[in-house]
Amino acid sequence: MSWVLDLQSVTVRRGTTTILDSMDWQVAEGERWIVLGPNGAGKTTLMQIASARMHPTAGRATVLGETLGRVDVFELRPRVGLASAALAEHIPADELVRDVVVTAAYGVTGRWRERYEELDTARALELLRVFEVDALADRTYGTLSEGERKRVQIARALMTDPELLILDEPGAGLDLGGREELVGALAELAADPHSPVLILVTHHVEEIPPGFTHMLLLGPHGTVQAAGPLAEVLTAENLSAAFGMPLLVAYGGGRWLARAAQPAAARGRH
Ligand SMILES: Nc1ncnc2c1ncn2[C@@H]1O[C@H](COP(=O)(O)OP(=O)(O)O)[C@@H](O)[C@H]1O
Ligand SMILES: [Mg+2]
Repeated sequence: MSWVLDLQSVTVRRGTTTILDSMDWQVAEGERWIVLGPNGAGKTTLMQIASARMHPTAGRATVLGETLGRVDVFELRPRVGLASAALAEHIPADELVRDVVVTAAYGVTGRWRERYEELDTARALELLRVFEVDALADRTYGTLSEGERKRVQIARALMTDPELLILDEPGAGLDLGGREELVGALAELAADPHSPVLILVTHHVEEIPPGFTHMLLLGPHGTVQAAGPLAEVLTAENLSAAFGMPLLVAYGGGRWLARAAQPAAARGRH
């Protein structure tokens, strides 16, 4: 079987800190993964490796069949779409929304720009339509709401027609309406068999869209708490261990909920 992602004992160290500790993880064609874990668990670092933006300190990371360290990452990177807060910071506020999306294609090497420009624009507008932000194509990015920006960032990450799409906390900073619109858009993406393999990073189980199939649950200190089919991994026991407190998990209507096993007021009385 050829994996979309195959991590073998991947370790990342910075100075004396171990950010990822001997991590194993395999992702196959057609899967839709949630990566869940507390703040500082190493999710963003892991996504840097999965998107060929960073090499492990030790271990082996194979992305779309190419082993990092033995491949030209500039050829590999366009095959992985990435949307993250760090990348979003570089989007100029005065750039037109359509250009935010279309310029993602400029990173692709070996293209004859003049011939492709019209096709690129058509594709960018189609992606904006999929995420219901096409009416904003001629606005500047800086004038959009946070929720609209997030959807434009995902459209941008899809511009190169990637085989793997990684979304690092797209729900961060959204209000309830914005979150629900995003969850709806991601559920549609997950249901589309033509979509790339999806990896969605979050620390809120309420942000898991219907249609996601697997979960990588990170525990403390850059370790894997559990990995596999979503319903098997997302149990109260696993989640409590990952977050270091007793938690309850509920599922209904295609969505997940989590909360402390004991209300804070009751805990305080003991
Ligand atoms: N370049 C770095 N140097 C030192 N520590 C880092 C570096 N990048 C991240 N870290 C630390 O590694 C841990 C994991 O960070 P990160 O991958 O951003 O976690 P998450 O995305 O799960 O919140 C954090 O404690 C963070 O402070
Ligand atoms: Mg992060």
